[in-house]
Amino acid sequence: MNDIQIGADGRLRHLVTLDGLGRERITALLDRAAALRAAAAARQTPQLLAGRTVINLFFEPSTRTRTSFELAARRLGAQVLNFDIASSSTSKGESIEDTLATLEAMHADAFIVRHKENGTPARLAASAHRAAILNAGDGNHAHPTQGLLDALTIRDRHADLSTITVAICGDILHSRVARSDLHVLRALGVRELRACGPRALLPPAGELPGCTVTEDFDAAVEGADVVIMLRLQKERMQQAHVDSEAAYFERYGLTPARLARAATDALVMHPGPMNRGVEIDSAVADGPQSAILAQVANGIPVRMACLAALLSP
Ligand code: CP
Repeated sequence: MNDIQIGADGRLRHLVTLDGLGRERITALLDRAAALRAAAAARQTPQLLAGRTVINLFFEPSTRTRTSFELAARRLGAQVLNFDIASSSTSKGESIEDTLATLEAMHADAFIVRHKENGTPARLAASAHRAAILNAGDGNHAHPTQGLLDALTIRDRHADLSTITVAICGDILHSRVARSDLHVLRALGVRELRACGPRALLPPAGELPGCTVTEDFDAAVEGADVVIMLRLQKERMQQAHVDSEAAYFERYGLTPARLARAATDALVMHPGPMNRGVEIDSAVADGPQSAILAQVANGIPVRMACLAALLSP
């Protein structure tokens, strides 16, 4: 994958996955995001993308990722187009590669791609002539900017990640966020990573290297410094994997009582969209330990940093 992402000059050319990017490159992106966040707070955002055109190509719904990529690009001075898939010629059978080539011919500099099929952003990165491809989520494969913004949110609280335990809980099987989070947190040296969910929602053994895997939610939360909750991703399920949402909440919902098992002041995170009363209780989602809106806010500087890394000299 890195041979697609990294150019001959060693620079990041596309962002398809965090797998194999390495600690140094990931830390540089997070440092740049933190610097851009500080510049924005001082109303001094550099216009690094002036004269550039960024196109959002979302084949799946999105609130957070699409909006924050758009705001990030605009705040850096780029022109942004939200390509309307429903009214485009893809509905007449045009291939996604031909759509990309057509838009590239109009001098687009970057495409933000979300697609239900694993590997679509990598396919487009391989076929792009000049433009950069940024993966905004493909199937259950990867969501690299979510992984980065989650890492930044954790790093804001814990400067030394080698001392903390992070538990990722819920529908791991269908989650691109879980995979990207595990890649980035492993690369950054988190002391202990735990993945937890019902057997039917855990990937086969061996797919989560370096991670303690358990079906026991109480054990996963016990002493954790960060608890990341995931929703049931029904749109990617071929069959019903849980008996009922009420039974799921009983066993795997993060309630105040369950959170009390975690470290004092443990961070509660969720990539969104949340299903309150299914994987998380509103008292926790809106409670003092929740970093959910901090994650959303960090999405903008992280996406600025990624766009700048790919497009600015
Ligand atoms: N976290 C995330 O990808 O949210 P959206 O689906 O709203 O973009």
